[in-house]
Amino acid sequence: MSLNCVILAAGLGKRMKSSIPKVLHRVYGVPMLQSVINTARRLKPKKIVIVVGKQRRLIERTLDSKDLLFAFQKEAKGTAHALRCAGSALENRKDAVIVLNGDTPLLNSVTLKRFLSLHRRNKNAISVLSFIAGNPDGYGRIVRHSSGRVLSIIEHNDTDPAQKKIKEVNSGVYALNHSVFDILDEIEVNQRKNEFYLTDIVSLSSKMGLRTAVYCMGSEDEFMGVNTREELYRASHLMKEAVIHKWISKGVLFVDSGLVFIHPDVSIGRGTTIYPNVYLEGHTRIGKGSVIYPNVRILDSDVGNDVVIKDSSVIEASRIRNGASVGPFARIRPGSEVGAGARIGNFVELKKAVVGKGSKASHLSYLGDTRIGKGVNIGAGTITCNYDGVMKHRTVIEDGVFVGSDTQLVAPVKVGKGAYIGAGSTITRDVPPWDLALSRPKQVHCKGWAKKMSTKSKKGK
Ligand code: UD1
Ligand code: CA
Repeated sequence: MSLNCVILAAGLGKRMKSSIPKVLHRVYGVPMLQSVINTARRLKPKKIVIVVGKQRRLIERTLDSKDLLFAFQKEAKGTAHALRCAGSALENRKDAVIVLNGDTPLLNSVTLKRFLSLHRRNKNAISVLSFIAGNPDGYGRIVRHSSGRVLSIIEHNDTDPAQKKIKEVNSGVYALNHSVFDILDEIEVNQRKNEFYLTDIVSLSSKMGLRTAVYCMGSEDEFMGVNTREELYRASHLMKEAVIHKWISKGVLFVDSGLVFIHPDVSIGRGTTIYPNVYLEGHTRIGKGSVIYPNVRILDSDVGNDVVIKDSSVIEASRIRNGASVGPFARIRPGSEVGAGARIGNFVELKKAVVGKGSKASHLSYLGDTRIGKGVNIGAGTITCNYDGVMKHRTVIEDGVFVGSDTQLVAPVKVGKGAYIGAGSTITRDVPPWDLALSRPKQVHCKGWAKKMSTKSKKGK
């Protein structure tokens, strides 16, 4: 029996006090609905249907939605009504359906798989996943008969004082056979909220004699529902802890893990050290045995093994190959590549610049739209003049070139293999391989001029 997944994400999210849909709020850098989708994908369902409301365009645009189907709930009339809206997208009546809430970003696919196998093994019509909450406020309580049989789920605001004390609560995760869709219509509106509650399916199905079970499993944290800003903050903290502990267990050293941000999509190799105030964002990969010193931000980049990124550097959408060193105070802009063992030093900016193996640009340079070969030395203060006010032009510097300090390379220009550029030159024409290029006015000397000037000025006083 194969599986489909429905994620309910059309709620108004009023308790969030925000103009953006609740499910797009970020928990440790990831929109919470995206986290639920990522977990759903690990269950390998045939279809993932997201029930969205008025803000569906924004939700569709924000998510990585290549394999998703969207169902539209015009008005937020409750979770049962939302599930009904997904019905037509799930024609195959043989498939089981797992229902998830879009506001539970910490769900764990291992627990969900265990839950699904219980649902299948026991041939239930409907299974509900419950957990024990330290503080059950806000969650639907699982009401059981003294025999243990489940009677109903009562929402927090509808509980009597005895039910309020129940710690077993509804996670919002359900597994259903398709037959259950037929009885969704029978759910009556909750008078107090004027909504159709999916939770009412439990009492209804057990009354109808359908096999109904509630499985209490997993840890409280993984089912945390995010309804308020305070819960968003707590969920982010939990997600961060999970990310940090994962990398610690894989051999990463955090000098102070409290002060780093590691996006959940980032990967870090064994033996790498991360100093405080480091932000690793987006799809960044850091290899093994590297060191990232304080105040570094790396976004969507690939950093190899044994790389050193020194203090206060920014790297975006670029690649740093094995054994290279960057910083302190370096800026590597998108489309750049620092070759194996190459060194990019302080106050050096690269933009769409490829720096070959073992090359060095150690101080105060701008290298843009540039290809630099192997073993090149870029002297302090070298600038590629890549922009003529209208267009960008390329600079090519071949293997083994020595560029003297304070050189301007006026692009488009090419410096041939092994060439040598004298310090302070403005290079406007291609330099043939192995030539020395110099472009600076000859130095002139006026004998004793300074001495004469100083005697004159003393007389004047
Ligand atoms: C819901 C459950 C509660 C459970 C808790 C777990 C109901 C009635 N209650 O409560 O038993 O303990 O989740 O976190 O189901 N949604 C829609 N359309 C709607 C209303 C909601 O798609 O008309 C979506 C929301 O976007 C959200 C999810 O359904 O992702 C749950 O809705 P929410 O209002 O957060 O329910 P809770 O009060 O948290
Ligand atoms: Ca909720």
